[in-house]
Amino acid sequence: MRTQVAIVGAGPAGLMLAHLLSIEGIESIVIESRTRSYVEHRVRAGVLEHGSADLLDAIGAGARMRSEGLVHHGIRLRFGGGDHRIDFGQLTGGRGITVYGQQEIVKDLIALRLAAGHPILFEVSDVQLHDMQSDRPSVSFVLDGASQSIECDVIAGCDGFHGVSRESIPAGVLTTAEREYPFAWLGILASVAPSSDELIYCYSERGFALLSMRSPSVSRLYLQVPADEHIEDWPDPRIWEELQTRLAADGWSLVEGPVTEKGISALRSVVVEPMQFGRLFLSGDAAHIVPPTGAKGMNLALRDVHVLAHAVAAFYTSGDTQLLDEYSAHCLRRVWRAQHFSWWMTSMLHRFPDSDAYQERLQLAQLAYMVDSRAASTSLAENYVGYEWTT
Ligand code: FAD
Ligand code: DHB
Repeated sequence: MRTQVAIVGAGPAGLMLAHLLSIEGIESIVIESRTRSYVEHRVRAGVLEHGSADLLDAIGAGARMRSEGLVHHGIRLRFGGGDHRIDFGQLTGGRGITVYGQQEIVKDLIALRLAAGHPILFEVSDVQLHDMQSDRPSVSFVLDGASQSIECDVIAGCDGFHGVSRESIPAGVLTTAEREYPFAWLGILASVAPSSDELIYCYSERGFALLSMRSPSVSRLYLQVPADEHIEDWPDPRIWEELQTRLAADGWSLVEGPVTEKGISALRSVVVEPMQFGRLFLSGDAAHIVPPTGAKGMNLALRDVHVLAHAVAAFYTSGDTQLLDEYSAHCLRRVWRAQHFSWWMTSMLHRFPDSDAYQERLQLAQLAYMVDSRAASTSLAENYVGYEWTT
């Protein structure tokens, strides 16, 4: 097989890239190790920045997001038994976020691509990248028991944090910066109307809790748990009890419902630099991950491929690799802003196992300042809806 861009991974990054390239008249083949059903049902992110929602619209994939997604113009910080609203509308000139499940975006992007007759090869195995430093790189894999190869001009490594692309780069090329956190998130989906019309980020003595949602009848909730916790130790009644305790506030109650999905995700911050090796470009979680507090991961993945698609298009128009050469530096500016924001939100809202009275008072002082000071609230708000540079 021959194509212009071989895309490894059919997550938000790979699928969005395929669409952006196709709009530029550039051919691509997407290969994915999982089944279509698996990627369409993997429950993960739920919050789209203003710019990410606009991007889905711009490629013609926004119709269902606009009709079913929930637009929010604020979040609530809950601590000390009270709620404090951060008003995005007022603080960011009317911008907001859209609550719409990542797997719904993946469904929409897959349907659009297949309807246009463009290929996504699911259930490939033994994926290997070759000749990345030449101008004729290739990707080999096994599909339906047969060995296949795609020759291309560019490889986009959009295969997530556990993918093969980053691992294919020889040792010594990339530098890695990382942080591990001594806790994880236990997340549930529940068939019950959300008990709040906006997301609630809650700092409590027993640890962080988050109330989010997927629709007017589906709640998404998260609990900070120890890093080595097992989901088997969390039967549904225990999860609800803990959520009730942490989220308790005067005059408010958390309505419970049947749990339809649950899992535990580790929290890490990782960035590899540069996000390029020859003709291989890493995008999204393949190059960087953030702890989920602040909801930046999928948004960063979409922004990376927006930059990459533009650079690839310029390369085909002019034969010039300048924008491709600048891809990594261009993306890393946004990546590091989001790294800081996610680390900072995580540090402010979670309870650290080695925490003492001083640490707790610092966190509460910071939270109080966030909601008292317009400057501090604006900083949170503009990062949450997606920080845009003026230069
Ligand atoms: P992925 O979604 O991981 O996609 C990579 C794809 O590559 C997968 O389909 C995988 O199967 C495939 N693949 C892997 N290896 C291979 C291979 N060898 N060959 C072919 N294919 C391969 N982000 C937000 O922006 N907002 C949120 O609210 C948010 N909440 C989150 C909550 C949780 C609990 C978690 C875990 C994450 C959350 N995130 C959030 C992060 C977000 O889900 C990720 O950042 C996002 O999925 C990254 O997209 P991606 O396309 O780069 O990678
Ligand atoms: C969701 C996930 C997040 O990480 C976050 O900060 C807010 C919402 C969610 O899945 O709805």
